[in-house]
Amino acid sequence: MEGASKWVLFLEACLIFSSLIISFGNYNVAAAKIKEERAERKLANDDQSGFISIDCGLPKNSTYIEETTSINYISDATFIDTGVSKMLSPESRVTHQQQLWHLRSFPEGIRNCYRINITSGTKYLIRASFLYENYDGQNDLPEFELHLGANLWDTVKLENASLSVTPEIIHVPSLHYISICLVNIDSGTPFISAIELRTLKDTTYLTQSGSLSRLRRFDLGSSSNRGYRYNYDVYDRFWLPRAYNKDWKSISTSFTPDSFSQNDYQPPEVVMSTAATPLDATASFDLSWNPDNAGSQYYVYMHFAELQKLPANESRAFNISLNGKYWYGPLVPKYLSTNTIFSQSALSGGQYQFSLYMTENSTLPPIINAIEICIVKDLLQSETEQGDVDAITNIKATYKVSRNWQGDPCAPVTYLWDGLNCSYDGNEPPRITSLDLSSSGLTGEIAPHISKLTMLQYLDLSNNSLSGPMPDFLSKLQSLKVLKLEKNNLTGSVALELLEKSKNGLLTLSVDENPYPCSSVSCKNKKNNIVIPIVASVGGFCILLFAAAAIFWIRKEKKSHETVYKYNGEAVNEVQMSKQGSKEFQNEVKSMLRAHHKNLLSLIGYCNEGDNMALVYEYMENGTLEQHLSFDCNNVLTWIRRLQVAIDAARGLDYLHNGCRPSIIHRDIKTSNILLDKKLQAKISDFGLSKSFETESCTHVSTEPKGTFGYFDPQYYKTKKLNRESDIYSFGIVLLEMITGRSAITRDLDHAPIHIIQWVGLDFWKWIL
Ligand SMILES: *[C@@H]1O[C@H](CO)[C@@H](O)[C@H](O)[C@H]1NC(C)=O
Ligand SMILES: *[C@@H]1O[C@H](CO)[C@@H](O)[C@H](O)[C@H]1NC(C)=O
Ligand SMILES: *[C@@H]1O[C@H](CO)[C@@H](O)[C@H](O)[C@H]1NC(C)=O
Ligand SMILES: *[C@@H]1O[C@H](CO)[C@@H](O)[C@H](O)[C@H]1NC(C)=O
Ligand SMILES: *[C@@H]1O[C@H](CO)[C@@H](O)[C@H](O)[C@H]1NC(C)=O
Repeated sequence: MEGASKWVLFLEACLIFSSLIISFGNYNVAAAKIKEERAERKLANDDQSGFISIDCGLPKNSTYIEETTSINYISDATFIDTGVSKMLSPESRVTHQQQLWHLRSFPEGIRNCYRINITSGTKYLIRASFLYENYDGQNDLPEFELHLGANLWDTVKLENASLSVTPEIIHVPSLHYISICLVNIDSGTPFISAIELRTLKDTTYLTQSGSLSRLRRFDLGSSSNRGYRYNYDVYDRFWLPRAYNKDWKSISTSFTPDSFSQNDYQPPEVVMSTAATPLDATASFDLSWNPDNAGSQYYVYMHFAELQKLPANESRAFNISLNGKYWYGPLVPKYLSTNTIFSQSALSGGQYQFSLYMTENSTLPPIINAIEICIVKDLLQSETEQGDVDAITNIKATYKVSRNWQGDPCAPVTYLWDGLNCSYDGNEPPRITSLDLSSSGLTGEIAPHISKLTMLQYLDLSNNSLSGPMPDFLSKLQSLKVLKLEKNNLTGSVALELLEKSKNGLLTLSVDENPYPCSSVSCKNKKNNIVIPIVASVGGFCILLFAAAAIFWIRKEKKSHETVYKYNGEAVNEVQMSKQGSKEFQNEVKSMLRAHHKNLLSLIGYCNEGDNMALVYEYMENGTLEQHLSFDCNNVLTWIRRLQVAIDAARGLDYLHNGCRPSIIHRDIKTSNILLDKKLQAKISDFGLSKSFETESCTHVSTEPKGTFGYFDPQYYKTKKLNRESDIYSFGIVLLEMITGRSAITRDLDHAPIHIIQWVGLDFWKWIL
């Protein structure tokens, strides 16, 4: 096998190996995930799975089990950065459950928000609790707004200091988090005592649109006069007793808990074991409520279960009417079995009078065990698109933005985050279109998260202390029209796409007052003596093999020709492209017309009229490999990318040596002659010095040595015999440059030249070990 083909195979093996390492990494991540999921599933057997119980104001990292409910509460510290923790006086605590003892109050800021991660698309019962108990000594009951994400959920109006208010909503969040915000409306300091989330079954509390806010949830005919929640109720709903009505009486049963059969709503058995029935058996049982707002819409859920074992000659059957019109029936409740009757669509119209009346052949009056009445909450304002929220949240964290950035970034528009602008398009989620973080004391590099704000049109990061290279990723922002980066500490070149857009008037770009802004395509690339750190790379191990092989190759070369070349510090026969003479010109045209390969630069045309000589090549957007190896360059190539470039170049070389008949020896393989196209595919260029082997049998041609100092095969220099191995030698030097980031020739402190092979021989292993 010929040298260049060996390289192709070897480098491809390296690439496969690197990919394997990466997939192995992925496999480990997958395994860890499965483990996590298993742990979660185990948790799902726990009684309180699907519960998030937050005691607001509880000191950070504290947890406890509430005595009366056995609910496990946690501190709110991880869900919010603002507000101050307060506690009720010991005497006012005694009559309340422990989650109400602490509270968080918000003397600062208009909108303060909790951010709680949840599972999107899951039905949640979300409840907030507020108990004042004159915690601040002001004796002044506050009034404020409670927002769920971008929408008003409720106005919290406290009317009795020692009674808790507990607004509750059944809601299916569309994002993987919810924000609960307390909004100051100039009527006292907002505060909150507890936040509780419980997952519900998808089959329950169905609505045609909107979420459901609790108006009433009654345990009818209760004989205990006490409320029930967890752990009587698996979903921790609050059931209040409603026993006394002059026209009603209570009936109850004493069943064994096992015998009760439930439906998906699972009202607690203790609630279902009592029922209300009219005193006068022939009278109807009436339920009604006055709407707070004529436009309100309601859903009603009635829970029934027969509590008496009826003898054969008795029966209980009844119909339900709404505002005097038949609504449902006849209903015959089953013994100790929950049956839930609910409105299939929202009730509206402003009048809600339900009557339960026995059918003609029933011997017993109607009963009802429990009822829930909910108001429809249309949370019409959609929340900002999740990707934008994630990106801006990460940007906030990266730069520790100290502005009042809380809750939804774009909505409601009244509380739009300072420095943002958003697009609001009907029911579509708002998108962030503008980000102004100028003069904000930002340090570090430009955060990659910015590129995730895909609808961004305006980006101003000027007048900060941002450092590092001008990032490439900003060119991913397709809608970007204004980019202000001036007055920072940025270096490197601006991405070509951005320059192009700016040239075409599609982008207003300002990069002035940065130390080394390089705003032209031909950015000066200073070679750097610092070695690009190898360790971070996944393919690092492979690179070692790669290096070892390159060194071995070159050593082998050296060994077989004992005379090691000496550098006198001057260039030997260096031919610069720009000074190409007529011979080189014709030579190049001849070679190029013969050689066609995807890893060779294609000649498009040429002109040869007297002194006017020109070659027209395909355009290579990404310049030379040399530019990309420069440490200053912001397009530093990844290891995998380097391997691919090396494979491309090796393929091109292999084609010249073994694919072309007669073969071509390039004679000037170097990093500046390997060009990269738009997709970073490498192509070999500059055939000005190339030589053809005229015959198959020929192993070498004798010729005056030509090439570039540093890449020059010493054997060829000595013997003047040119063969394929001369190119392979140069290619080895290219590989070393790709690995180390050093030029073929560098100078030491005394300006003496150091060849990369010397450097590798002396320092490389020291550096690796
Ligand atoms: C507040 O509620 C408690 C308990 O229900 C009651 O005793 C008290 O009278 C109420 N106070 C006011 C001012 O309404
Ligand atoms: C059913 O039978 C019982 C006695 O077995 C009697 O007391 C009751 O009045 C009867 N009820 C009706 C509706 O006939
Ligand atoms: C009498 O009640 C039963 C249910 O108990 C019902 O199936 C039947 O249709 C009723 N008859 C009449 C005439 O209402
Ligand atoms: C730049 O930012 C500093 C504070 O970081 C501020 O004092 C100064 O006014 C800003 N200059 C301009 C031109 O905005
Ligand atoms: C700019 O960056 C250089 C290093 O890259 C640092 O020495 C210098 O202090 C920085 N200047 C400012 C104003 O941050």
